[in-house]
Amino acid sequence: MDKKEDKLKEVISHAKEYGYVFPSSEIYDGLTATYDYGQLGAELKNNIKNYWWTAMVQMNEEIVGLDAAIFMHPKTWQASGHTEAFNDPMIDNKDSKKRYRADVLVEEHIEKYRDKIKKDVAKGKKRFGDDFDEVQFLATNPNVKRSQDKIDALEAQLTEILESDDLSALKGMIEELGIACPVAGSKNWTDVRQFNLMFSTELGSVAGDAAKIYLRPETAQGIFVNFGNVQKTSRLKVPFGIAQIGKAFRNEIVARQFIFRMREFEQMEMQYFVRPGEELKWYEYWKEKRNKWHKALGLGEEFYRDHNHIKLAHYANAASDIEFDFPMGFKELEGIHSRTDFDLKKHEEFSGKKLQFFDPELNKNYVPYVIETSVGLDRMFLAVFSAALKNETLEDGSERVVLSIPPALAPYKVAVMPLTKKDGLPDKAREIIDELKFDFNCQYDEKDSIGKRYRRQDAIGTPYHVTVDHQTLEDNTVTIRDRDTMEQVRVAITDLHGIIDEKVSMKKLLKMG
Ligand code: GAP
Repeated sequence: MDKKEDKLKEVISHAKEYGYVFPSSEIYDGLTATYDYGQLGAELKNNIKNYWWTAMVQMNEEIVGLDAAIFMHPKTWQASGHTEAFNDPMIDNKDSKKRYRADVLVEEHIEKYRDKIKKDVAKGKKRFGDDFDEVQFLATNPNVKRSQDKIDALEAQLTEILESDDLSALKGMIEELGIACPVAGSKNWTDVRQFNLMFSTELGSVAGDAAKIYLRPETAQGIFVNFGNVQKTSRLKVPFGIAQIGKAFRNEIVARQFIFRMREFEQMEMQYFVRPGEELKWYEYWKEKRNKWHKALGLGEEFYRDHNHIKLAHYANAASDIEFDFPMGFKELEGIHSRTDFDLKKHEEFSGKKLQFFDPELNKNYVPYVIETSVGLDRMFLAVFSAALKNETLEDGSERVVLSIPPALAPYKVAVMPLTKKDGLPDKAREIIDELKFDFNCQYDEKDSIGKRYRRQDAIGTPYHVTVDHQTLEDNTVTIRDRDTMEQVRVAITDLHGIIDEKVSMKKLLKMG
C-alpha cells in the first residue's frame, strides 16, 4: 500500500473514531459511498457553511442568499441540458459484473505513465544527489520524453473521442490499450453506453413519465429560476450575486474516495450576474477572491493550485478549478466558471418568461452574464480534516496525534477540565463553562488523567484546554493550554473570554479573504 492510501485510511478511521464521519446505516452494513456526519462532523460542517455564507452574503452587500427546493419543475432540467446531456460513459466487465467510467479507465492508464516519470525523477535524484537539476532532467531524459509523448498522444486521442461522443471509439481505445478489469483481471468488456447521472422519482401517487421529477444534480438552477424574483424584490442592480448552500444528488457510476465523490452531497454555490462583456473581468476577480478565502484558513499555500480548463463546456467562455492536495493527490475542490448568458437564456426559452435586467446606466434590457463559484461542502470538509490531521514526534520522543483544524472552524473552541473530581473543582469548571458557553462551544471533560485528556482534545481538534486546579479556588486563575504549541500559561478566569475570542474569531479570516 502506498503512502497516499495509508493517509486516506488514517483520515477515515480517525473521522470515525472521534465522531466526525460514520458510514451511513452502519448497523445494516452501510450503504456504498454514503456517509453520516457525527456529533463533531456536524459542528465542523456547520462552521464551514458559516464561514462561506458570512464571507459571501454578510461581507458583500450586493450578494444575497436563497434556499430553493431540491425538487424542481422537470422543464428546468430540459432547459439546463441535464436531461439530454448530463451523462457519463460507462462500461461493464462481464466477468466481475463491475461497472466503470470508460473515460476514467483510460485516464488511470495514462496516470501510469505519469507515475513512471515520477519514478525516473526519483532515480535521477538518488543518482546525482545535490547536483540533480529536475527541470533539465525532465526536458532531456529520453525515458521521460518517451512517457511524456505517450501521455500527450493518449490525452489528445481521448479528448477527441469524448468531444465527438464516439462511444465505440472509446471502447476501441480500452481494447487497444489492453486495459483489464482491476477486479477480474479480464478484458471481457460490454459496449460503452451513456448513463444519465440524475436520480429520478415520481411526484404523488401516479407513476409514469408524466409525474417523473428529479433530485437536483446542482443547486445552481434553483438560483437561475429565481433570478427575476430576487432581482425584483431585492431591487439589486447588476453586478449582484445570489448564494445558496444545499444538497445535490448525482448517480455517480463510481462513487469513492470517502466523502470526495458521493451520490448525495452538498454544494455552496454563488451566481454573480454581470453586464455582458464584463464577465472576464469578474471571472478574474472571483478567482482571486475565492483563492484568498481558502488560503486564509492557514492550511498552507502548498495545498492549493489553479487548474485553468483548456477544453470548455459549450456554455462557458472561461473556467478554472481550485485544486487541493487531498490524501489521494491534487483534485478539484472548487470550480469557477464564466457561464455566459446560457442558463438564463435557456430558461427564458423554455418558460416563455423574461429573465432580464433593465440597466438604467445603459438605458437597455439585457440577459446578464454569469460568473459561478461552486465548492463542494463535503470536499471542503475533507480538505480541512485531512490537512489538519498530523502525527507529531515530540521533543521527549513521545508521539501525539493532533487535529490542527483552523480554530474558527473547530467543533469545540475550549475544553474545561477539573484537575480532580473532588474538592469543588468540577463545580468551578462548570461555572466557567456557564459563562463561556454563550459565545463558544465548550466541552466539559473530567474522565482520565489530565495528560490523557489533553491528548483526547488534541485528537478532536479543540484549540484551547483550560484546567481548573486547587489554586483556582484561591485566586480565580486557571491554566490554559494551546493545542498547537502545547504551551501552558496561568491566566485570570476573567481574561479567558478575550484570549479564546482572539484565537477562534472568524473575523481575522474574513479580513484576509
Ligand atoms: N454548478 C456547477 C457544478 O455543479 P461541478 O464541477 O459539477 O459544477 C461543483 O460541481 C463542485 O461540487 C465540485 O467542485 C465539487 O467540489 C462538488 N462535487 C461535485 N460532484 C460531487 C460529488 N459526487 N461528491 C462530492 N462533491 C461533489
